[in-house]
Amino acid sequence: MAKRSLWGSKVGFLLAAIGSAVGLGNIWRFGYMAYENGGGAFLVPYTVALLLAGIPLMILEYALGHREKASPPLAFARVNPLWEPLGWWMPVVAFFGINLFYATVIGWCMNYFAFSLNLSWGADTSDFFFNTFLQVSDGGPFDLGGIRFPILIGTILTWVICWFICYREVSHGIEKASMIFMPLLFVLTLVLVGWSLKLPGAIDAIKNHYLHCDFSKISLTTEAGRNVWVAAFGQIFFTLSLGFGIMITYASYLPKKTDIVGNALTTCILNCLYSFITGFAVFGTIGYMAQAKGVDFSEAIAGGPGLAFVVYPEAINQLPAGNRIFGALFFLVLIVAGLSSAISLTEAFSCSICDKFNISRKKATSLICGLGLLGSIVFCTRAGLLILDIVDHFINNYALIIGGILECMLIGWVLKSGVMRRHVNSVSTVKLPVVWDILIRFFTPVMLLIIVGSALLNEFSARYEGYSVKALLFIGGGILFSTRLASFILSHFKWDPARLTERHHEPEDDDLLV
Ligand code: ALA
Repeated sequence: MAKRSLWGSKVGFLLAAIGSAVGLGNIWRFGYMAYENGGGAFLVPYTVALLLAGIPLMILEYALGHREKASPPLAFARVNPLWEPLGWWMPVVAFFGINLFYATVIGWCMNYFAFSLNLSWGADTSDFFFNTFLQVSDGGPFDLGGIRFPILIGTILTWVICWFICYREVSHGIEKASMIFMPLLFVLTLVLVGWSLKLPGAIDAIKNHYLHCDFSKISLTTEAGRNVWVAAFGQIFFTLSLGFGIMITYASYLPKKTDIVGNALTTCILNCLYSFITGFAVFGTIGYMAQAKGVDFSEAIAGGPGLAFVVYPEAINQLPAGNRIFGALFFLVLIVAGLSSAISLTEAFSCSICDKFNISRKKATSLICGLGLLGSIVFCTRAGLLILDIVDHFINNYALIIGGILECMLIGWVLKSGVMRRHVNSVSTVKLPVVWDILIRFFTPVMLLIIVGSALLNEFSARYEGYSVKALLFIGGGILFSTRLASFILSHFKWDPARLTERHHEPEDDDLLV
């Protein structure tokens, strides 16, 4: 059996994990969510979600991957073979539920990077994005209406990059790429933030719309307020890449002596800090645009793809100087942040396939990147945006959070959290207190159940974004059902018996991480 890959350095592992966490979600979701949900007051539910679910689950995922030295299906099967199908669900969801559309969105960013060089989106950036670039079909999500070739080319390029990086050994591929991508991303982001802060009107917009606190928006006594808490938990899962199986996979390449708690805290804090800092660029730029056009800030801002592909290009058009460079910089930040997350989404599934079928990383990566590209084609059609929107909604609100509940059940009750805590404390510098057991066994899963329940209730009270029941059931329900089915099928193949017992910690592991 091939020896398991290892990270070459502690910083290499940390940068790869932070690279997975920092992604499109940090840039186009966080700032808008804060704006919509009480500005600075949103930091309250966000921090509560970070403390009660984000950090405990990050520690759990690192600990599970490290203890079992295995991808999620193998790690789950080693704890209890009956849980293997649930272990498959996470990387299957990460790959089919997220990576397929994530690659296409990076493809959009690549196109926009090129457009920014001559501002080819023109004056009406909304019309350009929806009608010229995406050519969104009028007939709804089932009216595919043909492939958009510029988008397909960007998507192919994204998959080729993912393949090229994941194909190599972990320390030569993902680690080296992260060592380049992450410092580059941090520098580019700081330049972008610095530039945005200097724009006229930026500071006022940040003070009045980003940092001001409207605590009435987060009140638990109103339905709207409760929804903000649901949104904060969903965002913490997506932004920290929890419930994807990625952090379990990445931790499985760690050597024996590793500060699990310290690494988990560093990953969570740096990721959330990145979101917070990027918010300054988003609010500063939009604030400038609102002032330049003489419109209210609320009319200027939008969330999700609308922020990156409609509002930002419009703001770039208005800049007094350096529009092209600013545009290229912004889309480069999105590309680099997106790629480091897409690589991790690919790796979680690829490593699971390698572990189960005992095939080489090269074969597994080539196979699944080919499959991924084929799957992404649906998002390159004229209905791509609509399908993406529904898939994203169902995966975020249900699959990831249910994955989190299942992890808590497995570690809290099947393995027993005390066993895992002792393992963590035997290797970590920062010790894990007993309160972690209470969180993992009771508090976090109960909170997450309430979150899923509230999301489900919302589903019945209003159709998401007004899509037809048929579209929500077939696409949203379909992605949840088909990923579950695929997980059951994959778990029915037999393991090489040695895999279920061996943990591969090599004696020399101790010396490797510096
Ligand atoms: N954690 C990644 C993001 O925020 C997936 O985009």
